[in-house]
Amino acid sequence: MRKPIIGGNWKMNRGSPAEASEMLKQLIPLVKDIQSVDIVISPPFTALYAVKEILESTNIKLGAQNMYFEEKGAYTGEISPTFLKAIGCEYVILGHSERRNIFKETDALINKKLKKALSMDLSPIVCIGEHLEEREAGKTKEIIQTQMDRTFKEITREEMIRTVIAYEPIWAIGTGKTATPEQAEEIHAFIRELLTQRYDKETTDSVRIQYGGSIKPNNAEELFRQGNIDGGLVGGASLQVDSLFAIIKAADKTRL
Ligand code: PGA
Repeated sequence: MRKPIIGGNWKMNRGSPAEASEMLKQLIPLVKDIQSVDIVISPPFTALYAVKEILESTNIKLGAQNMYFEEKGAYTGEISPTFLKAIGCEYVILGHSERRNIFKETDALINKKLKKALSMDLSPIVCIGEHLEEREAGKTKEIIQTQMDRTFKEITREEMIRTVIAYEPIWAIGTGKTATPEQAEEIHAFIRELLTQRYDKETTDSVRIQYGGSIKPNNAEELFRQGNIDGGLVGGASLQVDSLFAIIKAADKTRL
């Protein structure tokens, strides 16, 4: 059975070492006995180091929100995967819709980052998802297929198994509009079909696919009970200890 993964994506919030540490000090004892869920916190770069020290010897893992595909050089403002590794990051979010839409990241760029992350033994969490207009025009599957083809271009079976996919319908991110469990499950199942076409059933069964987009304590469990949903990538609700803990518990409950 796939182990669910709950990622807290703090975005450009809670970036000072002090505020990040304060929240995690409360969360750590609450989740310390949870074994059936992988928990990953992705703070802003400025808090990564402080957070790593606090997470030492806990069951919470550290993730970054982005990285560049080169290790070193004249790339002002970018972050190298080598630096992330050096401070103990295990995960990295790639191709979040905010990176795609606001910072114009393309599938081709995300593919380069993905290959680099995999070669550096970072675990990538790769986001895909459709805009509202695309959903309303009945184009969701087409969009997902194109994003999958381009973003995962030349990714081997072994690499795919090490990659987490986050299906995040853009219209559900930060809007309070969650996809219904059925809507999310339909696309998750479709993503698995695409993986089977490209690889094989065994690979498909191993890849974790998170849902993301307005996950809250009151909708988490129902989403995580869907057969193809392996946890979630949580934005807003990951900023408060109570709501994040409730969502982690919801994932844990589905595995009891
Ligand atoms: P949200 O963000 O939970 O605030 O909708 C999810 C995400 O962007 O990963």
